[in-house]
Amino acid sequence: MRRIAVLTSGGDAPGMNAAIRAIVKAATRHGLEVFGVENGYDGLIDGRMAPLQPREVDPIGAFGGTILGSARSGRFRTEEGRALAASHLQDMPLIVIGGNGSLTGAHLLATQTGTRVVGMPASIDNDIGCTGLCIGVDTALNTIVQATDRVADTARAHRRVFVIEVMGRHCGYLAMASAVAAGAEACLIREQGKAEQKILNDLKALLHVSLTGDSPKRKVLIIKAEGVQLPTERLVSELQAYTDAQLGGVDVRATVLGHVVRGGAPSYQDRMIAGRLAIGAVEALLQGSTDRMVAWQPWSEGGVPTSDPSVVLFELEHVLRETEALLDGTSPVTRRRVRMMETYEGVIAL
Ligand code: F6P
Repeated sequence: MRRIAVLTSGGDAPGMNAAIRAIVKAATRHGLEVFGVENGYDGLIDGRMAPLQPREVDPIGAFGGTILGSARSGRFRTEEGRALAASHLQDMPLIVIGGNGSLTGAHLLATQTGTRVVGMPASIDNDIGCTGLCIGVDTALNTIVQATDRVADTARAHRRVFVIEVMGRHCGYLAMASAVAAGAEACLIREQGKAEQKILNDLKALLHVSLTGDSPKRKVLIIKAEGVQLPTERLVSELQAYTDAQLGGVDVRATVLGHVVRGGAPSYQDRMIAGRLAIGAVEALLQGSTDRMVAWQPWSEGGVPTSDPSVVLFELEHVLRETEALLDGTSPVTRRRVRMMETYEGVIAL
């Protein structure tokens, strides 16, 4: 093995460039040449790749996004697409940096074409099984907390209620973690499985308790994961009707953070995790591993240990099963998060 390839796929995440940089440096250290694939699996199908030099990638660790570009590839969902992609690799091993869909593609590429593939979890949603954190999560959380602090300033100034919608696709991790850190009064996540009327009733009760009595609050922040089916616009309208009727017409507004959550320079933690996972991925390929993902697990729960005490290797098939359980609610991790959210609900509203 004298050459390896690397691609970034799916939603970009802060820290992807730090991962690319570390892969190039670690591989070069082992005498390997690294080829960067343009625009994820789409670029691989078109054979769009070029060498990456250590000096060239030196500055990119501090940049958000991904210098390689990313894409969601419909063509790669077909066996023909994957076979064409594999043909361009010409037996070069591949590191895939991406989220759930990207790692699913990596597993299919490895099992259906024999390509040697190691995955690195990178998704702000933190919706990948077996890894405590994905690359990008820490930066996204810091972005949400800073934005929420700003909204809180103006909400207090005008005594307003704000619904702040955050990304996360079907996973409520960003909403839950940021709600606690930013001092929100409520948090809505899909995993709670609450019916729409229950959500509305609970929030109306929260507004009543928060905005009346001897020491009424100057602001109420509700952080809502985008995976919650109740549209933010309708939620605001329902709560505004309630405050108009019962609470003197306190203003209810919305801020949808959207892709702001995915941009920005990666935090220390994302750079650190990206670097250590990258070294684990290069080492795994050198040791002949394939169809694996390097996971960030400071507590080392299962998996095959690596030279880094916080990095372990899991079979991609196992990772994908755990990911499915995370999202369908059967995972103990999700059940624990929902239980924690229920505990928080009694506290953060005070
Ligand atoms: O998976 C990362 C993510 O940012 C999700 O949180 C979000 O729902 C989705 O990507 C948005 O995808 P796109 O950028 O293609 O609109």
